[in-house]
Parts: sequence; structure tokens; C-alpha cells
Amino acid sequence: MDLLDTGEKFSPRQDPDWDTALQFLPASDSRQLEKKPGRRKKVWVGVALVAAAAAVALLSGLLVWHFHLRRDVRVKKVFIGAMGINNQRYEAAYEDPSSPKFSHLAALVKKQLKLIYSKNSVLAKSYKGASVQAFSEGDGGGDTMVAYYQSEFDVHVLQQASLDEAIESMDAGSPAGRSMGLRPVDALNVRNVVSRAMDPRMARKSLYVKKSFNRHVKEPGIVQSPGFPDSSYPPNVYLQWRLRADPGHRVRLDFHTLILEDDCQQDFIQIYDSLAPIEHRFMTEQCGYPHDSLSFLSSGNVMLLTLITSEEKNFPGFRANYSQIPQTQQECGGTLRGDRGSFSSPFFPSNYPPKTKCVWNIEASKEKFLKVQFNKFSLGNYSSECRGDYVEVNGKRMCGSKPKSTVVTSRSNTMTITFNSDSSHVDQGFTAEYEAYVPTNPCPGRFQCSNNLCINKTLQCDGWNDCGDASDEDNCKCEESQMKCKNGRCKPKFWECDGFDDCGDKTDEENCVKCKAGEFSCRNNRCIPEKLMCNGKDDCSDASDESACERSLVLPKCSEFTFRCRDGSCISKLNPECDGEEDCKDGSDEKDCHCGTRPYRSSRIVGGQTSREGEWPWQVSLHVRGSGHVCGASVLSNRWLLTAAHCVQDNGPNKYSHADQWEALLGLHVQSQTSEWTVRRNVRRIIAHTDYNSFTYNNDIALMELDSNVTLNQNIWPICLPSATYDFPAGKEAWITGWGATIEGGLRATILQKAEVRIINSTVCKRLMEDEVTNMMLCAGVLKGGVDACQGDSGGPLSVTGPSGRVFLAGVVSWGDGCARRNKPGVYTRVTKYRQWIKENSGV
Ligand code: ARG
Repeated sequence: MDLLDTGEKFSPRQDPDWDTALQFLPASDSRQLEKKPGRRKKVWVGVALVAAAAAVALLSGLLVWHFHLRRDVRVKKVFIGAMGINNQRYEAAYEDPSSPKFSHLAALVKKQLKLIYSKNSVLAKSYKGASVQAFSEGDGGGDTMVAYYQSEFDVHVLQQASLDEAIESMDAGSPAGRSMGLRPVDALNVRNVVSRAMDPRMARKSLYVKKSFNRHVKEPGIVQSPGFPDSSYPPNVYLQWRLRADPGHRVRLDFHTLILEDDCQQDFIQIYDSLAPIEHRFMTEQCGYPHDSLSFLSSGNVMLLTLITSEEKNFPGFRANYSQIPQTQQECGGTLRGDRGSFSSPFFPSNYPPKTKCVWNIEASKEKFLKVQFNKFSLGNYSSECRGDYVEVNGKRMCGSKPKSTVVTSRSNTMTITFNSDSSHVDQGFTAEYEAYVPTNPCPGRFQCSNNLCINKTLQCDGWNDCGDASDEDNCKCEESQMKCKNGRCKPKFWECDGFDDCGDKTDEENCVKCKAGEFSCRNNRCIPEKLMCNGKDDCSDASDESACERSLVLPKCSEFTFRCRDGSCISKLNPECDGEEDCKDGSDEKDCHCGTRPYRSSRIVGGQTSREGEWPWQVSLHVRGSGHVCGASVLSNRWLLTAAHCVQDNGPNKYSHADQWEALLGLHVQSQTSEWTVRRNVRRIIAHTDYNSFTYNNDIALMELDSNVTLNQNIWPICLPSATYDFPAGKEAWITGWGATIEGGLRATILQKAEVRIINSTVCKRLMEDEVTNMMLCAGVLKGGVDACQGDSGGPLSVTGPSGRVFLAGVVSWGDGCARRNKPGVYTRVTKYRQWIKENSGV
């Protein structure tokens, strides 16, 4: 039987593949982590022919087998089970599988299982044996225990379904289950039995290392994947950590890092509210690079963490901190008095524990009604009748995920809210605010949306959907400066014909005098017949009609829109650099492409969110000696950084233009908290653009040379510099990152923040901004407001992901009108305009 052993020390079976399969990080190129396609075509043709012949032979063989032999085929099935036992007191000795106590009780459990299975003919016939894996205290408290086991059956193929059925009929609650136990012939006083088929990914034959580790979480500690953080995890392993807390406590598991392969079919971790990976106690599965909360709590005093890896593509893995907290801590629910207040699911922003119920009773002033606004709402175990995890407000259930600002009202001054989580599938939960209102005036001084949300009156009919259901944009009378969409909405006139569907029904993009129907509009604004596109000739004369074709043309004539190879020839493809395909004859479009990847991965911010460590390895924090973080910068190479010229201007007594005033922190995540990956360097030289204009912020760009080279690592990696002809089209998603203020005029962030914005059309941007936006600047933001860079983010990167997943530096944070204001995008130094300048001054 293929069972997990229980040893503590991780010792892989001596396999010749073991060592070679370990990957040491940082990988210089993420592509190395992927399988390389073979190039020898002829060999492949031969192999294909042989394979085809073999397939025909195999197929005929299979048919013969199917009709003559299959009648005798038997399969092995493994089930994971938990048995609740009464009248047994848990003792520390039960944690040690080699103790006599463990063996004695395990023998009784096996005897009991045999007895149970003997009552069903299908089970009796196919039962092969069981192994007991662990014991824990029972959730019944007092003298109860749970035994976790695997049982194996050998069943005829055609009887698999009846085996599954029989196993399920043994579950507690079913008649067969209830008639069990408390009889003299029984070895144990069984409270209940639940078993489920093992996840087929855990039963994979190629998993050749299986280990279990037992941890007591009374003293906080860490669990991590083998090799973390110096090397990637080994292939084909099934590891599990059994975490036990003291009785009356919960296990708490907080992931510090989790980076696995993106495909959960290959590599994944799972967490169970149990000591065995049994489906009805499954809490979560994670793979890739998750962005949600990775903090988990058990319902009782045990938790299981499993890691399963595949043959290929091994990643760094994980590190998590464990600890225990008393069950009584943070009891939820209660009576809430007063006309406004807030409450949230237990342990928010951590994931709520399974099997939790909370009841809140809100009592507001007499004669008032109540409304509750959910600002975050995501529950696990969704079912259409909300039978799994749910929130019930005055008898009405809500479950699954709900959009931000979902409002529920009650026509009285009291409200009862219940939160319930079942035994599996946890999630982050909810946060809610409640408010009492006078029934005749639900939104005093404000506009009431159809969904009962109250918003500022000035937001009505301004072209933006502020209610969430767009009811603030219905039945509007458009002003002078606005256009009327067919769907009745009003939008700023200058949004007409900007290439975006602002109305939502495309009416703002109709009747635009661009090119006629059947014509293609070139990037240089010429119109050519559509059929000339991709015909192998440069008909636009900027090659834009040939820029997105299957084949890239080598052009006789270069233009400001075409990429120039090192040999001087120009090619028609748009943004060919570092896209993973050689387009230039000399291959120069793919040279120097070690940039712009998070080495691990396959592939001052307002309105942002906390980033993960190592997510933005090109982000630098520039400190002025004695005053800490002042500006951001980007890593261009192991010696050069790029920042904003306005960061390095003298300011009264502050000699910011002097290199010795500065200190650069690379690989930093939390201000004032350096890690093993953080590198501190003095600055040798600052080269600010000589044409920087401190009034207009034109040419707001500067280079910084470090006093010595840094060794790149998983948290320090250069970003790709776009060539002068690289195109960042309006509407393209971009990320801003920094430790700047998180609200206009507010405090700086301690943890690196990130926010997603979009590139904004220059014509639109020039109309929106009071101050001049030149062609050397690039605008990006969220015009609705609420997301932007702010004081302290200056000099930092505006990162855009290119076609092959490499990240390019589109802009340098420069200036803005306040922060995150509506219709006031952030303004960035347009890096493409300075490609030559960077090369000349730094050699990068
Ligand atoms: N100049 C500011 C600084 O020194 C950055 C301003 C960016 N502002 C904006 N709203 N995008 O940090």
C-alpha cells in the first residue's frame, strides 16, 4: 500500500533525478524554467510515423482486450476517512505513531473498520486494509477522539460506482451509520464515520516522495517547502504538515510567500480543517501567485497543509508562519447600539474559520430605518440556495461574491444579521457599515441610488457610474460641455471619437470622421484601403498597415514608428523587442532581454493595494540621509537607476543634487525592515537631464550610478527599457508602485503599494490638465478618480507588461494635480523619448 510515512525529517528517496531536478534561483531567464521545444524537424517526422504505427497496433490490441479480457479488470481505490470515537481520552502519546498507545488504538480502529465494512457485501468483498495516520481530540470535547485513516479497496471496474455508494452510505447520519456502534461486538464506541475518495492528483503514481511532518503550534514557528528560499521545490512530491494546537485553541497559518506553478493541476497546496485530506474538511487550494488573503484559521485545534508537485516547472514554493490562538478570542456577533457602526466577518482580513456562526442584532433609535452597506463580500461554498456559507439579513440570505457597496435596508429600527460558515471552503468574508436613517429622508443632502446607496449630489449626471447600478446617470439633462449618448447618458464632449466606448453603447464613437468604411487608419493618420493591410508592402509609409501581421517586413524605409535593428534595417512589427520571437535578421530585437521578469515567475499610491514581496523587483526606494524615503526609482542594470529630475534638485539647504546625500535601497519591501534580499548602496553620480524645467516639469528624468555593482536576486531585477518607437497605446493597463502617500496630503505607506491604471490618450489628457502636458510626457490614471500616484512616488516606475510577459518602463512618476482627483490623471516622463539619452549617459 502506498501510504504516507510519518517521519519528521525530510529525506527524499535517493533517486538519480532528485538533485538535477532542483533549480537554483534566481533563474536568469524564466524561459529556462519551461520546456524547450525541439528543433530537429526530420527526426520528428520519423518519430511521428513510428508513433502512428504503434498507435494503430495499440488500438487493435485495446479493442481485443476490451471485448475479451476486460471482464476481469480490477482497480485499486483509496478513501480518506475520519472516525469519531466516544469514551476515549486523547493523550500526547497518540501523536507518536511509534508509541505502543498509538499502535494499540490503531489496531482497534482497523478492527472496527473491518467490522463496519463487513456489513456491506460490496465493501466486504473488496476491502484490502486500512492504515491509521493520526489521532486528534474530538470536536465533541471531553472524552472524544478522532482517528484519521486511509482504507484501500480492490474492486472490479464495473463495480466502482457501487463501491462509492456503499462508502457514502456508511457516513454518519445515514441509517447504516446510525445503527453502528455501541454494541458489544464493536471494538470501539464509534460516534461517526466519514470517508471520501482521495483526490486523484494525490493518488498519482509518479509521486515518489511522500512525507508527513508533525508540528505543535503552541510555540510559533515556520513551515516551508523544501529548499526554500535558495532553491525551488523538488518535483513529484506529496508532503503534508499536521499542525496541532493545544485543546481549546485554533491553528493560525499565515503565508509570507507562496509562489507555485500557475496550473493547479500540476503544483498546489491545500489546507484542511482536519489531520487528513478529507474532502468535507477542505478549506482552500492555492497555486500560482495568489493575490488574496493567505491567512487561515482552523475551527478546532488541528489543521493539515499539503504540497503536491509535478514533474516539470518547479517554483520557489512557500514559507508560512504558524501559531495558536485561544478559541475564545474574537468571538463574533453581539448587540450593536447607536445609529451607525461597522462589523465584519470573524478575523477579517484573514479568511474566516470553518464552522463558525455569528449573530449581530442592531438596535437603532426608534422611528428610524436601518441600512447596511457591504464594502467587501466574498464567501466560499456558493450554492444557489445559499446553503453553504452565507450572510442572512432579516431572514434573506446572501452568498458567493457581491460587488462593492451592496446595500440592504430594513423597514424598522432593528436588524438581525447572521454569518454562517460550513465545514469547508473558506474565503475572506465581509466588512459592513450600518446607518440608521429617517424613513422620509433616506439620503439627507445626497442622491439616493436605486440600490439605496447615497452618493454626493455632484456625482449625479457627471458621466461616471458612481452608484454601481448607474442610476445616478439615468434621466440626465446634458450640459453644454457634454454629449448625449443614445442610452441617455451624458459624457464630456471631448470623449467623442477618442477610440473608447465611453457611453457603453458606442454612440460616442459613431460618425467620427476618421477613415471611411472599408479603410484602415494608419498610425500617421493616413487612410488606406483595408485590403492593402498585411500585403507585404508599406502602404501607410509608417508600416503600421504591416505591423500586426503574421510576417514582419524588413522595410526599405524607416519611420518614427518602426523598430530599428542593430544592423540599421527597420522592421514593420509593432513592439518587437523582447517578445520572444527573433524579428530582426541579426536577432538584435531579442538581445539584452534578461529584464522585466520576476525571476520566480513563468511567465505613493492612492487607491492601491499592498504588493507581495518580490512582485516589483525593479522598484527602488531612494533615501536622503537623515530623512528616510523621499523618492522612487527603477533598476536599469546592476549599476544604474532611473528616477525623476525633480527628486534631485537642490531645495534651499537640502542639497539633493549631491550624490553623497542619497542612499538607494534595492529589493526593499517594507520601509525600515530590510530582508536578506535588500541591498543598500551609496550613489556615485547623479545625471539629471540638462533641459529639466522646474516650472513645467519637462524632461523630468535623471540617472543615478551606484557606487558598486549589485548582485541581482529574486527581489532585485532590471525592468526593460522600451525603444524609441515602442508604442504604449491609450487604454493599455499599467501598474504604478511606490511608498508614497496613500491619500492626498496623507501619510506615506510602509509596505510597497501597487495600483492598476490605464494609459490615457494625450489629446484627452492635454484638455483635462490645467498645466501644460508636453509630448515628452505620458498620462496614466483612472479618470473616475481614486487611483493615482502621489507625493513620495516620484521617480518610480509606470510598468507595462509586454506581449511575452516582460515588463517595460513606460514612464517615470513626475507630477499631477493633487492626487487621484476625478479627471486629473497622473503625468509621467515618457521614457521612449529618452532612450537615446539613457544610452548615451549610462551605456544601458
Ligand atoms: N511630484 C510628486 C512627488 O514628488 C509625485 C506626484 C505624482 N502625482 C500624481 N498625482 N500622480 O512625489
